[in-house]
Amino acid sequence: MRILIVCLGNICRSPMADGIMRDLVKANNLDWEVDSAGTGSWHIGEAPDRRAIRTAARHGLDISGLRARQFEVEDFDRFDKIYAMDHNNYSDVLALSRNKADQDKVELFMDAAGEYGKSVTDPWFSDEHFEPVFLEIREACERILKNLSL
Ligand code: 4NP
Repeated sequence: MRILIVCLGNICRSPMADGIMRDLVKANNLDWEVDSAGTGSWHIGEAPDRRAIRTAARHGLDISGLRARQFEVEDFDRFDKIYAMDHNNYSDVLALSRNKADQDKVELFMDAAGEYGKSVTDPWFSDEHFEPVFLEIREACERILKNLSL
């Protein structure tokens, strides 16, 4: 299984999800590939936001080595599942799809976790959102892993 998690900047939500999912995959001895990307280009090459790094570190995860990259059309070929953190990310990714096979790979992250129609809040504008967003993402990652393993 090859999973790509997509948000806007690839410095807050998707790097936290990336770190959590990689950790879960490792803990469950799964041979899955996990990566993340942003639909926007502003932060290409940057490490995750320091608040995201700090929040992940508090929960025992080191995501400081991740570097932001922009979603590209080839990602439809490289990945089996593409999870979008919010509705804007979802429609931005779909806008790049070339065919139905591409479109079928794209799902709202929270839909994949069984919480339909929900966006993961962008914590960028507010320091205190990082912790609850991390916890929400972690729970969703656990559910997604379970759903995909069935
Ligand atoms: P992310 O958060 O999509 O969770 O990485 C954001 C980071 C940066 C910006 C927006 C969202 N920005 O506008 O620069």
